Amino acid sequence: MNKTAFINAQIVSRTEIFTGSVLVEDGKIVQVTKDKANFGVDVETFNLKGKYLLPGLVDPHVHFRTPGNPEKENWVTGSRAALAGGVTTVLDMPNTKPPTINAATLSAKRLMVEKNAMVNYGFFAGATNENVEEIKAMKGIAGVKIFMGSSTGSLLVDDKKALEKFMQAGIICALHAEDEQCIRDAQAKYADRADAAVHSLTRPPECAALAVKNALQLAKKYGTQVHICHVSTRAELDVIREFKSDKVSVEVTPHHLFLNTGDYEEHGNVIKVNPPIRDASDQNALWEGIQDGTVTMIGTDHAPHLMQEKQLPYAEAPSGIPGVQTSLPLLLSAVNQGKLTLQKVVELTSYNPARRFGIKGKGVIEVGADADLVVVDLELEEKVCHNFLWTKVDWSPFHGWRLKGWPVMTFLNGELAYEWRDTFHNVHGREVTFKRGV
Ligand code: DOR
Ligand code: ZN
Ligand code: ZN
Repeated sequence: MNKTAFINAQIVSRTEIFTGSVLVEDGKIVQVTKDKANFGVDVETFNLKGKYLLPGLVDPHVHFRTPGNPEKENWVTGSRAALAGGVTTVLDMPNTKPPTINAATLSAKRLMVEKNAMVNYGFFAGATNENVEEIKAMKGIAGVKIFMGSSTGSLLVDDKKALEKFMQAGIICALHAEDEQCIRDAQAKYADRADAAVHSLTRPPECAALAVKNALQLAKKYGTQVHICHVSTRAELDVIREFKSDKVSVEVTPHHLFLNTGDYEEHGNVIKVNPPIRDASDQNALWEGIQDGTVTMIGTDHAPHLMQEKQLPYAEAPSGIPGVQTSLPLLLSAVNQGKLTLQKVVELTSYNPARRFGIKGKGVIEVGADADLVVVDLELEEKVCHNFLWTKVDWSPFHGWRLKGWPVMTFLNGELAYEWRDTFHNVHGREVTFKRGV
C-alpha cells in the first residue's frame, strides 16, 4: 500500500483554514484530522509547517492545442505548466485542428491525450450550426462549447435556430459570448486602425453583454445549464445579475482580472485576446463580482500562440494568452494584498468548478476525495520569469511581475508531481467523469 502523509499543514477549504494532517492511501484521502498526527514509519511524511494545503486547482478552460498545433502546446508541456501552477485537472476546449465536434474527433483526441497527460483532464465538445444531434450522442464530455462570435479556429454558431437547439439539448452550454454581428459592425467603424489597442474597440463590452442577454433569455425559456466563459465586463455582470439563476455559472480569467487597456502600450498584440482586455472600470467590476458572488469561478483560458505570431501586424496576430501556470500565484499575491481570502481562492479555482461540472472527488480535502493537492508558500516572493514557464510558447504578459505566494509542491492522484521550481516527476493524468446532480 502506498501511503503519504501531510502534517502540520494549514488546510484550506472553501469555508475554513485549520491546522491539521492528511493521510493519503493509494491516491485517495483516507484521513483528515485537526489533531497532531503520527501515521507511523511506513508512511512518506511531508511536514508542511508554515505552509498551506489546498485542493488541486480545477481549470475549466484551457486550450492545449492537441491535435493540430503541437508547436504551440502539447500535453507534456501543458501539463507541466498546469502542475507548476497548482492545477491538477483541466478541461480542454474543442477549437483544435480538426475541431472536436463529434464522437470520432473526440476519440482521436482522447487517444493522443491519454498517452501524454500528466494532469487529470476532461473535454468540451464544440458546437457548429449542424451538429446538435451528434453532440447529444457524445459520452463523457464536460459540456458543449458554443462560440457565439468568431475567435481562434473555425467554430462558430451564428444560426439562432442552432443555438436554440443546443439550449434544449440537456447538456451544459459553455458560451463564448460575443455577438458576431455586433463585432462586425464595430470592426467596420475602426477599419482604418491597426494598433493593438483597437482590439478592445472592435469587440466592445456591448457585444459581450448582448450575447449574454440573448443566451440567458433562451436559457430561462428552456431551463438550460449555462456556463458563461471569460466574463470581462460590468455590462455582462449586470445582465447576469438581472437573470440571477443557479443554473448559470460565471467564469473570469486572470488576464481580465490583472490587466487592463493601459497595458497595450507595453504589450501590444501580446495581450490581444478574445474577449479583449477591458478598461480599469470593467476590471474593477470583475473584482466586485468576485466579492458579491456573481463570479463563480476562475478559468485561465490558457491559449498559447507563438511569440513570432504575436509580433505580426495587428490584423494577423492571433488572439490568446497562456495563463495556466500564473493564475494561482497571481491570486495568491492578491490574497497577500487583502483583495480576497484563501478560502475564496479555493472556492473559485477548485470547489466551484468541480461541483459545477460534477467532477467527483475534486475540489475538496475530505475523506474519500482524490489526493490532488497543492502546497502553497504564501511568503515566497519571486518574479515570474520565462526561464521557469513550462508552456511550450515560453512567454507570459506577467513576465517580470514580482509575486508573493507560490505553489511549491503539487500532488496528482497522491503522487508528488511537481516541486518548486523546476522538478517534475513522472505521473499520469486520468480522464475525469462528469456526474451532475440535475
Ligand atoms: O483569445 C482567444 N483565444 N479567445 C478564444 O476564444 C480562443 C483562444 C484560442 O484558442 O486561441
Ligand atoms: Zn472563448
Ligand atoms: Zn478559450
